[in-house]
Amino acid sequence: MSFSADWLTLREPFDRAARNEKVLDAVVAAFAGRPAIGIVDIACGTGSTLRALSPRLAARQNWRLVDNDLSLLARAAAASSPQARVTTMPVDLVRDLEMALDGPIDLITTSALLDLVSDEWLERFAIEAAARRLPVYAALSYDGRAELAPADAYDARIVAAVNAHQRGDKGFGPALGPEAARAAVTRFEKVGYAVTHGEADWVFGPQDREIQNQTLAGWATAARENGLPLADVANWLTRRRDLVASGRSSIRVGHLDLFARPTSTR
Ligand SMILES: C[S@@+](CC[C@H](N)C(=O)[O-])C[C@H]1O[C@@H](n2cnc3c(N)ncnc32)[C@H](O)[C@@H]1O
Repeated sequence: MSFSADWLTLREPFDRAARNEKVLDAVVAAFAGRPAIGIVDIACGTGSTLRALSPRLAARQNWRLVDNDLSLLARAAAASSPQARVTTMPVDLVRDLEMALDGPIDLITTSALLDLVSDEWLERFAIEAAARRLPVYAALSYDGRAELAPADAYDARIVAAVNAHQRGDKGFGPALGPEAARAAVTRFEKVGYAVTHGEADWVFGPQDREIQNQTLAGWATAARENGLPLADVANWLTRRRDLVASGRSSIRVGHLDLFARPTSTR
């Protein structure tokens, strides 16, 4: 599955505003007083997590940015700053997750990844993190909640179809989709981690027309692929776009952030 740099750029400010402060504070507190840390950001895209987290950390940082999309990785390389040294590593996380995590790493980060992965891959990820005693900050996993205002009678059908579509294979096997974040909390607790988690919802106001239109178009495509009738989906999309164009539409999309920390030390 590929993600366009344009889409990742469009969503980044909304991701940043959505990131759960309590979870971010827990990440920062875990590394207080450390002069230097090594961080691997898996499925980094263009480096959104680095840009959100790096300024909050007092330590010097070595970031390893990992993705299987070479054009996104090339953009991520530019995320380097005096405080954050960046190296990029092309890795297919299905085949070579373990390779991505090896070496001098103190923290694993990721964002908008867990809802794409299967339960089997999530278990492997939790085991590999635990084997290395590495904390994990996983942000912005879609959790199945989508609220549109004003409401349309067809919204619920679309959201149900989108959530079913989310469970399709995104390259990691059948995806956990909306169940991913809660499944991750359970998985990490099972391997002896303490988990801080909280909601991290996108909030699109009436002026946020472009992201609303792109989100609605993506949902319409997913709903069609999941079997909803073309005419019904097209009519729904037209009604919702009219609301966006007239500045009367708001959308909230539910996400969950988590910070999972081993309770025994290295
Ligand atoms: C929704 S994007 C999130 C990107 C970034 N973390 C962010 O929040 O902007 C998902 C990312 O997962 C990457 N990805 C998907 N499958 C992958 C795989 N098998 N191996 C490595 N990266 C993968 C994509 O290339 C993309 O960058």
